[in-house]
Amino acid sequence: MIPKVILHIATSLDGRIRNFPADYELYYSLAARWNPDAILFGSETVLAAIRDNPSLEVPPEHEEMFRPPDGSPDPRPLLVIADSRGRVRCWDAIRKWPYMRDVLALCSLATPQEYLDYLAERKVGAIIAGDDRIDMRKALMDLSRQYGVNTVRIDSGGTLNSVLLQAGVVSEVSVLIHPFLAGGKPDPTMFDPVKAGFPDLQVFLTHLHTEVIGNGIVWVRYSVKES
Ligand SMILES: NC(=O)c1ccc[n+]([C@@H]2O[C@H](COP(=O)([O-])OP(=O)(O)OC[C@H]3O[C@@H](n4cnc5c(N)ncnc54)[C@H](OP(=O)(O)O)[C@@H]3O)[C@@H](O)[C@H]2O)c1
Repeated sequence: MIPKVILHIATSLDGRIRNFPADYELYYSLAARWNPDAILFGSETVLAAIRDNPSLEVPPEHEEMFRPPDGSPDPRPLLVIADSRGRVRCWDAIRKWPYMRDVLALCSLATPQEYLDYLAERKVGAIIAGDDRIDMRKALMDLSRQYGVNTVRIDSGGTLNSVLLQAGVVSEVSVLIHPFLAGGKPDPTMFDPVKAGFPDLQVFLTHLHTEVIGNGIVWVRYSVKES
């Protein structure tokens, strides 16, 4: 079974997904409504977050206090990073980010053995799917079968979003449009099929819901039409 997959994206009114004052409290509180079993990050998103905020590489001082008491089921989602090229090298720190119960890597048959050994030494689980780049459909099926994941929220830029849309696995696109004109170059964007290697990809959407929240933020949700 393929889990339910939701793209949840914060943008400025001019479509930028970086360099604007996003309301992260709102972003994450809305994201929690889907009650995802896993959050899937693009490797570039993780690397950009650490470049922007190097303290993310430092374990939170009292992360143990975020852990539920021993013996009780841990309701937090699994943190999954798509990283076939072995670029994320701070899993010890990432594992200690609060709000996630454990970490998991998605890799492919082309992932260097040295990186798979690095993950194994750190007891980071890995799903291997695809010959060269990650086969997302297969990886999602393995997430469901091996880890009991029913719902996945995607936290990534336009590259991984496009790969997932091309694979036909996305159920919903949720966008929080902020009342801000960010300017700068339109890169990265929320949908970048050229970078993903599918330059002709276009996607029909069906409107589900629109709501104005907080200080003029528009939350708009669409389902993805099956092609
Ligand atoms: N505003 C928001 O809501 C929001 C949310 C998240 C991120 N962002 C921003 O988005 C930016 C990053 O976005 P991005 O688009 O550059 O990168 P990204 O989507 O985070 O990362 C690219 C991902 O796509 C995978 N990929 C690329 N081509 C593929 C293919 N053909 N088949 C399978 N997998 C493929 C890569 O896997 P490999 O590693 O295996 O190559 C990688 O995991 C950052 O600046 C971040 O701040 C904004």
